[in-house]
Amino acid sequence: MNSVRRNMNILCIGAGYVGGPTMAVIAAKCPDIQVTVVDINPDRISRWNSDHLPIYEPGLDEVVRAARGRNLFFSTDIEAGIHDADIIFVSVNTPTKMFGTGAGMAADLQYWEKTARQIRECADAPKIIVEKSTLPVKTAQAMKRIFDAGNHQNRFTVLSNPEFLAEGSAVRDLENPDRVLIGSDASPAGIQARDRLVDVYARWVPRNRILTTNIWSSELSKLVSNAFLAQRISSVNAISALCEKTDADISEVARAVGMDSRLGSRFLNASVGFGGSCFKKDILNLVYLCRYYGLEEVADYWEGVVRINEYQKERFVVNMLGTMFHTLSGKRICLFGFAFKADTGDTRESPGIFVAKRLIEEQAELVISDPKALENARRDLADVQGNIRYVEDPYEAASGADAIALITEWPQYAALDYDRIFRTMVQPAFIFDGRNILDHQRLHGIGFNVFPIGKPALTHFHEAPGIRP
Ligand code: NAD
Ligand code: UGA
Repeated sequence: MNSVRRNMNILCIGAGYVGGPTMAVIAAKCPDIQVTVVDINPDRISRWNSDHLPIYEPGLDEVVRAARGRNLFFSTDIEAGIHDADIIFVSVNTPTKMFGTGAGMAADLQYWEKTARQIRECADAPKIIVEKSTLPVKTAQAMKRIFDAGNHQNRFTVLSNPEFLAEGSAVRDLENPDRVLIGSDASPAGIQARDRLVDVYARWVPRNRILTTNIWSSELSKLVSNAFLAQRISSVNAISALCEKTDADISEVARAVGMDSRLGSRFLNASVGFGGSCFKKDILNLVYLCRYYGLEEVADYWEGVVRINEYQKERFVVNMLGTMFHTLSGKRICLFGFAFKADTGDTRESPGIFVAKRLIEEQAELVISDPKALENARRDLADVQGNIRYVEDPYEAASGADAIALITEWPQYAALDYDRIFRTMVQPAFIFDGRNILDHQRLHGIGFNVFPIGKPALTHFHEAPGIRP
């Protein structure tokens, strides 16, 4: 680790999808600050130090390359990092707890608590601790109690600074955020720590986008932001089911609704369902908190967002089964995309995992294609017994298939030569567009039976168009 003393030393514990890009951008924007990112996973750290970063994000390679070795360092030496740091961001994972009380709902805070204890043991001077991970409201209070235990009173000031970046646009989001949220307590130490963090972001974020609040509002706002975003998708997906029954078109409905400036047009794309590591876990965490405080109706309301998402994924598979004459056994199905969204290799909670597992249950044969996510797809499906192949080239992947199911909205899938693909497929050939990004009329013209989400189906069968079997 570089020991040159700069104006400030920032440490980030957790070199994941948030820690890595966030710190790379801070280092790039603040050359006078030394930024070190540490992790318990040595493989991850060695990849951050290599030409093959552990995550794919557009623009990230360039940002890392510009700062790494200058004022950005990746290391496994957590103790030294804590010792040297003025400000410590904690960006470890906070997955859904899978055991004991709260299993399947509450946040599992074991990684956070271990980190807090390690900071307490290794720090010999006052530090500012920044909650970067998404945490249940009131976590800062629990952490403060851990930090203050023993002879350590008042050496640590805890801030909440949740991250709002989305994968696939992380660098852009970090460089030009809608807002930066910093929560602190109202003590003089809290205000002073808050102002130091504000000064870091103010190097590149306009002051009027740096929002300071009390610490509980900040923690809660992160959960609520994700819940609102996911709620929009579940709302549009719920209506997509009604569109399929009524010959309405979800894209037209979403456009008409989104033109109301009070609602806005973004995040209204109907899909096979939302994925990603956070929406489901954060909503379940919110639901758990509401139940904990006895707010059953509020909990039920938000839980509905997750229920609709499960329904949408299942509906996609059931539609495939129904349309393909109620049996998928021995049929070859090609998945276009496996990442949970375009421009990332991340597959955590991807609807692709659900769809693949359900199709294997129906004894289909799978060929999975994705430009960035095949390594993760192999890992996700390692325990699944069935006939699964992983083929990056979409033409080769679709060759010999009965159906294509488009799972991820990679733009390259919209630009393929579908005449060529059609000729290599088993007839009748089906396309299930789980993202509504393909030219459905054109595909139908080529000869495909086309099943979008929330729009009339285009088939070559005897039923009137739009009537699903
Ligand atoms: P991640 O799993 O990619 O990274 C977490 C890292 O923390 C891992 O590399 C892990 O090895 C490391 N870690 C765990 N315990 C540790 C310890 N005791 N010491 C050192 N390292 C440790 O997770 P992520 O996607 O970066 O998410 C981190 C947090 O940020 C979560 O709370 C998540 O909800 C939140 N968040 C994620 C996103 C996103 O887009 N992924 C966006 C906003 C917020
Ligand atoms: C989301 C939020 O957008 C971020 O603000 C937040 O920081 C992050 O979660 C987090 O806390 O982890 P992310 O999950 O990376 O970011 O990606 P999104 O763009 O939000 O997409 C989530 C899922 O919703 C994807 O599967 C995407 O395909 C799907 N989606 C999105 C739709 O189905 N329809 C839409 O209109 C938009």
